[in-house]
Amino acid sequence: MLPEHGRPVTELLAELTTLKAADLPVRGGKVTAYVYDTGLPEVHEAAHRAYAEMLEVNMLDPTAFPSMVALERQVVGAVAELLGRPGAPGIFTSGGTESIMLAVKAARDARPGTTRVVLPVTAHPAFHKAAHYLGMEIVPVPVDPVTYRASVPAFEAALDERTALAVASAPSYPQGVVDPVEEVAALAAARGVPCHVDACVGGWLLPWLREAGAAIPPFDLAVPGVTSISCDLHKFGYAPKGASVLLFRDAELRRRAYFASAAWPGYTIINATVQSSRSAGPLGGAWATLQALGREGYLELGRRTLEATRRLAEGVGKIPGLRVLGEPEAALVAIAGSAEVDVFVLADEARRLGWFLQPQLSYAGIPANIHVTVTGVTLAGVDAMLEVIAEAADAARRRGPADVPEGLPELITSLDLDALDDATFAELAASVGIDLTATGQPGMAVVNAVLDALPAATREAILVRFLSVLYS
Ligand SMILES: Cc1ncc(COP(=O)(O)O)c(C=O)c1O
Repeated sequence: MLPEHGRPVTELLAELTTLKAADLPVRGGKVTAYVYDTGLPEVHEAAHRAYAEMLEVNMLDPTAFPSMVALERQVVGAVAELLGRPGAPGIFTSGGTESIMLAVKAARDARPGTTRVVLPVTAHPAFHKAAHYLGMEIVPVPVDPVTYRASVPAFEAALDERTALAVASAPSYPQGVVDPVEEVAALAAARGVPCHVDACVGGWLLPWLREAGAAIPPFDLAVPGVTSISCDLHKFGYAPKGASVLLFRDAELRRRAYFASAAWPGYTIINATVQSSRSAGPLGGAWATLQALGREGYLELGRRTLEATRRLAEGVGKIPGLRVLGEPEAALVAIAGSAEVDVFVLADEARRLGWFLQPQLSYAGIPANIHVTVTGVTLAGVDAMLEVIAEAADAARRRGPADVPEGLPELITSLDLDALDDATFAELAASVGIDLTATGQPGMAVVNAVLDALPAATREAILVRFLSVLYS
């Protein structure tokens, strides 16, 4: 794999282009998850160039590279200003998961002995990951079955002296609705419990939507009782990946997120994030995106996003067999099917037509659905998107639901997955017609249908196994 002799850059880039040919396109709006496109190529170009400029700066040591401190102050300052507390202390992190990990660690370390994270079932799995890594426990709270917002009475019942952190999402990813942040934060504050708002999706979106005319409830650091908030710039900030900001109500809580070690004979370690050595490229990219768009640019993107979301939700409501779950307040729309239209088959059919719609499995009484993240670029293609969804729904109606081999979910649930090696697991999947190497292509409906029929713990075991097989 390592060539004997070095290869020229043109050849390397050509090889990357070839490898990327099978990828989903990151621009153009036909991929409605994972990527955030402004529709303004010059903005992304500015980010690329600034990213490259900062690429080799190591954020490990702020005294060695003061440029990164200056940039981080500007970026964190901009987020604090937008999120209700100008001058609030913060940390630039690599993404939502890292921001959440640090928020959970800060809360735990601020009140030693507390071990529980109370969150709505719709909260992002990054909290489960943080709890797992930090040796804590998750206490899930149900959401209202119609609005999909966290149930306040259930929250109240779940908080106790063991609670390290209460969590609300603004919005939650699955249905794009904002939890009752004011109520949750007040309940937490009354018990002296910190409250984190996961605004990874909405932090850099909801304020612009509000300014563009949407009714957005209070959700930020100005809400009494909110002690930290995460805001991903690599989502609706439209920055290249690797960019999120975690803000704290005060510097004391931020210090609980930091980690220092002098317990070795090497260089001094003082880390603000989980990573130690890390590139300042993402920081440069995020800074440049904010600067290239400015207030005016983000407000215009907010207007377009709001209009596209409204048109999408309205249009979906007119397609027989489909309905939008809840009343999405942000730019995330979850579309459920019906007995006639299987959403997993619909997603496959849309894929055949060149569009990626993200399948979401049923959970906690919430039905399976397909998820669309509306971005700046969507408005220009929203009619085309609706046509594709209608055509894919028709095709799904004709095809009927994916065929789950009879008895397969029961068989899988009864297996001791830990006892199987990866090769046997792959063979087993192939024997029921599931080719684990053909991911991402149309034909995923049966895989999704099988996963959907399994309990969460079995789904997780299968997913871990899948990754292990993929990288074997
Ligand atoms: C609400 C919410 N929180 C956290 C995350 C995790 O973000 P990341 O993928 O950047 O780690 C996501 C990702 O989609 C999200 O939607």
